[in-house]
Amino acid sequence: MSRIAYVNGIYAPHREAAVHIEDRGYQFADGVYEVCEVRDGRLVDETRHLDRLARSLSELRMAWPVSRPALCVILREVVARNRVRDGLVYFQVTRGVARRDFMFPAHQRSSLVVTARSADRAALDTAAGQGIAVVTRPDNRWERVDIKTVGLLPNVLAKQAAKEAGAKEAWFVDANGYVTEGGSSNAWIIVGNTIQTRPAETGILRGVTRTTLLDLLAREGLKLKERPFKVGEALKADEAFITSATTIVTPVVKIDGKPVGSGKPGPVALKLRKAFHNIAELA
Ligand code: PDD
Repeated sequence: MSRIAYVNGIYAPHREAAVHIEDRGYQFADGVYEVCEVRDGRLVDETRHLDRLARSLSELRMAWPVSRPALCVILREVVARNRVRDGLVYFQVTRGVARRDFMFPAHQRSSLVVTARSADRAALDTAAGQGIAVVTRPDNRWERVDIKTVGLLPNVLAKQAAKEAGAKEAWFVDANGYVTEGGSSNAWIIVGNTIQTRPAETGILRGVTRTTLLDLLAREGLKLKERPFKVGEALKADEAFITSATTIVTPVVKIDGKPVGSGKPGPVALKLRKAFHNIAELA
């Protein structure tokens, strides 16, 4: 079955779908995006993803490419046309096509690209059950990582370094030695009965999975501390894990080659992964 992408009003075969060479996303990384999990053909936490997109657009004074209700329709159409039951839908908005000039163009014609792809849910669950290794890298990103922009070069380099070290994710570490977040995920540890993660006010993207997990912790009566942690604390923790729309909750068993806790996926992280979709919005 051929894949279909949505580009500025057109549903096109994936291999032919293209944007203009002077799209500002291509020239300046002047764009924002979202990745939403698709589960049983439904969108997971769509409302929160669209709320965050609204915030990203507003922070960058970028116009909606289509109305929010229209975007909801397009997302579903792309999911349906690609027959995705389990997988993800990716949507990206850029400041549109204009002659290369740093200042905002006079027009307000944002570009919209939507793609969707299937994933093997059982294989991902099995892989998550093994846990992942992470490596640490200095956080060399800009200060506005709260905006979900397509400017991801530091993340690309950090995740490539992780891959070359045999790990699945990189954890960024700030100048004070505190873990900020992963290259494409939020970072957590569990010490005793307390689950700990960095507050979302500085240094990280406010992950939608993170926000929904906070709801789950409250519902389960689990103790939460929103406080930054150092790499040494993570190594001494009982468990560590990451969250994102693509990894849901995935245990971290190794940091820079050293084991976390027992060196095996932690029971609490695995339990949270199992319970996550009981609380997430499925629309
Ligand atoms: N990344 N931090 C960063 C830097 C991210 O890129 C992501 C998500 C997250 C987690 O956010 P959420 O829970 O809303 O997925 C945190 C997506 C999955 C990506 O770029 O593919």
